[in-house]
Amino acid sequence: MDMKDQDESRNVEDVRGSSGGGGGGFQFRPAHGIGLGTIALALIGKQLHWTIVGRLFRPLHLYLDELVASWHELADAVAERAVALGHMPDGQAAAVAAAQLAPVDAAATRDRDVVRELTQRVAQVSEQTRARMERLGELDAVSQDVLIEVLRSLEEQQWMLSAQLDKGPA
Ligand SMILES: [Fe+2]
Repeated sequence: MDMKDQDESRNVEDVRGSSGGGGGGFQFRPAHGIGLGTIALALIGKQLHWTIVGRLFRPLHLYLDELVASWHELADAVAERAVALGHMPDGQAAAVAAAQLAPVDAAATRDRDVVRELTQRVAQVSEQTRARMERLGELDAVSQDVLIEVLRSLEEQQWMLSAQLDKGPA
């Protein structure tokens, strides 16, 4: 929801206002939202792992599980950075829904459509990550570094997915 995004923006401002840039009371809410994006990607990736059909079933079925594992790892890194700073993350279903990643059809999905659907969603989470990474840089360089690593992985995945669509980097 937009509201979620507004909440995150407000938290950035709140943190800046209350800590005076000191970092002692720093909270990781903006980046926590990115953790939710990668959890949402993992759920969609697993869904497509189950519903994919077509000539490329086997390699993509396996590749989807690799991606799902990567998204779980990225979410874990973000959530644990949040905990290290004293913020308790919420990665449950209701919170993940706020990540606003459009669901895919729960139906047989052609291999090419799987790659296209996934590329769009990885690009969406990449864009959100980049925006929040830039905002976070003003607050805490170490937390920003966590998001830089998330973004590096997402953009690499975006390239490898779009290459399968014969498009090259998006
Ligand atoms: Fe499986």
